[in-house]
Amino acid sequence: MDDVAFARALHVFGVVLWIGGVGFVTTVLLPALRRLPDAGQAFGHFEAFEGRFGWQARVTTLLVGGSGFYMVHAWDLWDRFCQPAFWWMHAMVLIWLLFTVALFVAEPLVVHRMLAARAALRPGRTLALVHRLHWLLLALSLMTVLGAVAGSHGG
Ligand code: HEM
Repeated sequence: MDDVAFARALHVFGVVLWIGGVGFVTTVLLPALRRLPDAGQAFGHFEAFEGRFGWQARVTTLLVGGSGFYMVHAWDLWDRFCQPAFWWMHAMVLIWLLFTVALFVAEPLVVHRMLAARAALRPGRTLALVHRLHWLLLALSLMTVLGAVAGSHGG
């Protein structure tokens, strides 16, 4: 296996762990927590689970970004970013940027505190808001995965 094939394997490995985790949180964990009778306690559980997944997401984001840019550099694919047909390349970078800013900047500096303060007053509504945001990120990520697989295999 050459180095770029290895980078692609690492890229897909990272995407599976990362987006798979977002899928689990969105379709299994949050619906289960929102059914608990005590919304305050449910929000506490969410923070504990998401805090743990946050570290996994940070590591996999770095892996996906590193391997992705390595492929772009090794194959000299920069001109794809000037062609609308390669919208899925833009989508990959956009999703990656969104999560990178969210996980490394917004969440630790602002969002965590903001959500905790809001949840102290309205825990049920805060969980509902968090759930909607997860659905949005998951939908955009899955569209990107579909576009990237179809696009990179000649679709
Ligand atoms: C900095 C961000 C990223 C860069 C620079 C990047 C770059 C790349 C490159 C160069 C390829 C190979 C394209 C080809 O073979 O023609 C690729 C494939 C792929 N990427 Fe990304 N990517 C990034 C982020 C993401 C993200 C966030 C996702 C998921 C949401 C993703 C999912 C995929 C998938 C599923 C493939 C197809 C793999 C295959 O079927 O072989 N990438 N990426």
